[in-house]
Amino acid sequence: MGQSKLQVLLSADQISARIRELGAQIDADYPEGALHLVCILKGACFFLADLARVLEREVFVDFMGISSYGAQKSTSGEVRLTKDLDISIEGRDVLIVEDIVDSGVTLNYLIHVLEQRRPRSIRIAALLDKPERRLRPVHVSYVGFRIPDQFVVGYGLDYAERYRNLRDICILDEAAS
Ligand code: IMP
Ligand code: MG
Repeated sequence: MGQSKLQVLLSADQISARIRELGAQIDADYPEGALHLVCILKGACFFLADLARVLEREVFVDFMGISSYGAQKSTSGEVRLTKDLDISIEGRDVLIVEDIVDSGVTLNYLIHVLEQRRPRSIRIAALLDKPERRLRPVHVSYVGFRIPDQFVVGYGLDYAERYRNLRDICILDEAAS
């Protein structure tokens, strides 16, 4: 991993401080009872692990696999379900946990799929949002950071499956990659 092509955008400390704020906001917003966290694989698994542990309420954790990218840096526009949930969400308060909202194609599709299953409520928490890139409308209730239109890696986010384990979120230099 050549560090020269990576520039820190959000440090590990900034990320964890912001996640504590999001957790407090989520705890305050929801009525008593369990919250059903649906993590979108693979990028959101670090965010899920940290968010789940700052929430003060009971949580259920489940995973959904969605693929729209392959090894490119922008969406193919096609969404494929690669892993479905293990637990029923009917009648549950569901919070979708996503790493980043870019075109909105993934979450726009997913919200439609999950709404059919009649959860009591469904909202989205995304650590990062690139609003300039939106192609499909998505309402994100909890946003960690709004970032400019640059490709980022680390803290779960990858480029062709690399860099997920970086502690900071970094801009990947286009020319060097
Ligand atoms: P969307 O369907 O275009 O909103 O894409 C969302 C998915 O694309 C995210 O869950 C990420 O997996 C991936 N993605 C979008 N932007 C980036 C980025 O800057 N770095 C890494 N992955 C990204
Ligand atoms: Mg993703």
